[in-house]
Amino acid sequence: MPLRELAFDVTPDTLPVDAAEFIREAEDRIDRFQSECRVPAFVPCDYRAAFGVLRTLSDGALTRGRRFCEWGSGFGVVVGLAALLDFDACGIEIEELLVAEARKLAEDFGLPVEFVQGSFVPPGAEDRVHASGTYSWLTTEGDYAYDDLDLEVRDLDVVFAYPWPDEEVVVCDLFDRYAGVGAILATYHGSGEFRLKRKVSARKRRRG
Ligand SMILES: C[S@@+](CC[C@H](N)C(=O)[O-])C[C@H]1O[C@@H](n2cnc3c(N)ncnc32)[C@H](O)[C@@H]1O
Repeated sequence: MPLRELAFDVTPDTLPVDAAEFIREAEDRIDRFQSECRVPAFVPCDYRAAFGVLRTLSDGALTRGRRFCEWGSGFGVVVGLAALLDFDACGIEIEELLVAEARKLAEDFGLPVEFVQGSFVPPGAEDRVHASGTYSWLTTEGDYAYDDLDLEVRDLDVVFAYPWPDEEVVVCDLFDRYAGVGAILATYHGSGEFRLKRKVSARKRRRG
């Protein structure tokens, strides 16, 4: 069982001013964006709650390092919050319009983050994704993003994703197969619920 669910506590605390301002501005821009040009696959998670989870991760007790990537980063808000907590943060998003918005938001707040337009599905994994079904937002159409980031999935210490219920299994499967041992997958499941899973061992290779 290479992925192990982690118990974690989020200390209730007020948001720091920089995070509160960033979220407020992001939500305003998202509202405007969604009233003008809706991208159906983009649904924002609960950013205040996400900050609490990232703050828990940022103290380093659970994580093996500070390289953070959001799979399907939308407006880049979680990436921006990770950067405010000193993660080395990047996002991968398939929709060009959203990548442009994410870059602008980060630039306006002077955040040292990187966004790549493309797919977080690693090269060669498309068949795995298709074999598992059809999905609400997950697509395999698009350039591979990892070359542009000069990274591989196994380099990432924390991956964040907001999968729909029908996509949870395949997102965990991709993480399980491609992440490095010790890396953490943080996922949002609606209604303020987050889960953390750690990859605890390498997958056994099949013989023959
Ligand atoms: C449910 S939204 C979550 C957005 C963001 N994580 C947030 O919480 O604000 C999922 C996002 O994943 C993007 N997406 C879907 N398939 C993708 C893929 N293969 N690679 C990168 N992004 C993808 C969609 O365009 C959408 O913006």
